[in-house]
Amino acid sequence: MARIPSEVIDRIRNSVDISDVIGHYVQLHQSGKGFVGLCPFHEEQTPSFSVNEQKQFFYCFGCGRGGNVFQFLMELKHIPFTEAVAEVAQLANVDLPSQYLNNGEQNTRQENNTPNGKLMVMHEETAKLYHHILMNTPAGAQALKYLKGRGMTDELINDFNLGFAPEQRILKPFLEQKINDYQLLRKSGLFVEDNNGGLHDRFVDRVMYPLRNQNGRVIGFSGRVIGKVPAETPKYLNSPETPIFNKRRTLFNFDIARKEARGTSKIYLFEGFMDVISAYSAGVKNGVASMGTSLTEEQVGILGRAVRQVDICYDGDSAGQNAIDRAVTLFRDHQPQGMQLRVVQLPAGIDPDEYVQQNGADKFAKYLVDQEETPVDFYLRFYRLNKNLNNQTELISYLEQSLKLLATLSSSLEQDMYLTQLAKEFDLDKATLKSQLQDISRQLGRRNRHSQPAALLQNDGSPAAISVVPSSSPAPQRNPIKRTELAEQLLLRYMFHDQEVWDHVAAINDFHFAHERYQTLYLLAESYFSEHGEYSAAGLMDYLKEDSLRSTLGQIEQLNVDDVVNMQLIDDCVQLIQEQIPLSQKIKELQSQIREASSLNNSELATQLTMKLIKLLKKQQELKAEETN
Ligand code: GTP
Ligand code: MN
Repeated sequence: MARIPSEVIDRIRNSVDISDVIGHYVQLHQSGKGFVGLCPFHEEQTPSFSVNEQKQFFYCFGCGRGGNVFQFLMELKHIPFTEAVAEVAQLANVDLPSQYLNNGEQNTRQENNTPNGKLMVMHEETAKLYHHILMNTPAGAQALKYLKGRGMTDELINDFNLGFAPEQRILKPFLEQKINDYQLLRKSGLFVEDNNGGLHDRFVDRVMYPLRNQNGRVIGFSGRVIGKVPAETPKYLNSPETPIFNKRRTLFNFDIARKEARGTSKIYLFEGFMDVISAYSAGVKNGVASMGTSLTEEQVGILGRAVRQVDICYDGDSAGQNAIDRAVTLFRDHQPQGMQLRVVQLPAGIDPDEYVQQNGADKFAKYLVDQEETPVDFYLRFYRLNKNLNNQTELISYLEQSLKLLATLSSSLEQDMYLTQLAKEFDLDKATLKSQLQDISRQLGRRNRHSQPAALLQNDGSPAAISVVPSSSPAPQRNPIKRTELAEQLLLRYMFHDQEVWDHVAAINDFHFAHERYQTLYLLAESYFSEHGEYSAAGLMDYLKEDSLRSTLGQIEQLNVDDVVNMQLIDDCVQLIQEQIPLSQKIKELQSQIREASSLNNSELATQLTMKLIKLLKKQQELKAEETN
């Protein structure tokens, strides 16, 4: 006899309301958001039987029975699963083909019949129970209040299926009527065992965070103390290692984050669950967190295979910075090739959760974008911790460290840009820095660069002597500007001063600066050129009406650049800038250009653009295919 397809089961279950069905057998009274009544499964005077309409779930505090509508009927009437399904189908006026009737054994999905499958089912049932208790019962009221006090909505609590493990020990009788297998219960990690082999709920009086595996199945829990954490009590208690739960391989919210990252192929790595949940509530659903312990090799591997880019987003205090350092190092050593790493450092002492609470969702989402930096940017700042850069010895040691870092970069464009940045910030001669860098590179040997493309930050090698003397006292510390911006500034600088570079870039078909500011400057400079014939910084200054543009032009003119133009550098800049413009945006732009060309009957141009579009679409498909592999 055929097994009932799970879609059919779902459809039948969804077409009735559990409280209607139970209402046939039990007199229910509204209580809060749910219903309560006298339990049909055991003798009682005061109601401890509760029904949750939203989750379509029942639970009795008295006897521990609970489940969905099918399980209610099975329990009440002592009938097999298929009969319960058939009965509900009848109530719901859904036809259940006869081939599915008469055999109640093959009811659970195949994968749920393996020992591990059963453990997952156990966890899922437990999660439902804890959630029900949190949302619908007085026992969960305090925990619910705590979560609401942290700014959580019902929707958010539902999305993460958060729950509450009450003080009463309830789990064993509840699970026993689903899977009556002592050895499995023992192995589940949901209990602690006493000397006589007795099983007692592991989680007591804690807010429960279900932990899901990569397929979204519940494999463990983390339970948090409500509110302030008493001394000697761990704030979070995790499930122990079990056949289905391996802490080193688990990332909180990874299943959702991976789906969310389909478009951007980027995942944010946070420190804690609450950070992931807060980011999610702020619309950033592609966040994960490691499981209490610091990040593991295994987790790095999992992330690296799933996405193209990981953004480490930790607190900016010194503990947080050390954690970033550790995480970056781990990625450096274990990340799969081709994966990009970025860092977003929060203001010191503030975790993402607190940032969202204090500044709101929009600011948080914007912060993540605006503050994204490369690991090198991060280290150039990290090396300054506890250094007084007004002291020459310390400054030199800082520069030494920084140049060693730059020596490991494989892109000479990047090296050049960071050198420009350092020279500018400390008012040093760039050429001197550059020759120091070359010395260090020679000393480190070429081995690092070539053997390990991801070796951004090799730190070994003997210390290189360095003799850079600042030409004056260091400039006040500023936020270094971002790589792309620096590329844009460099490019404009060369374009303004060199007709050949200008023509070269202007000839690139759909070139566009990544930041509006530079694009505007480019367009205005173009019209300035056509009016005046030749470039003059002062002249262009007058031509610009906006203060901010004038100040940007000022920055560009102050850049310390080589006199000789290196066309390779120009192309690298162009490429770097274009990489910043997402593929989807390029595709949209092309599509609108094609429409325009067609409406102007310029079929030659339209054809040309269409060829380009096809290329981009192909590339997009390839990227998608890689992601889903
Ligand atoms: P809240 O205090 O609820 O805001 O949580 P948080 O996520 O901000 O926690 P915190 O920053 O203190 O810790 C970060 C992560 O470390 C948590 O999400 C847990 O995974 C883990 N962690 C913290 N305290 C404990 C603990 O006592 N035991 C275990 N096993 N893990 C912990
Ligand atoms: Mn927190």
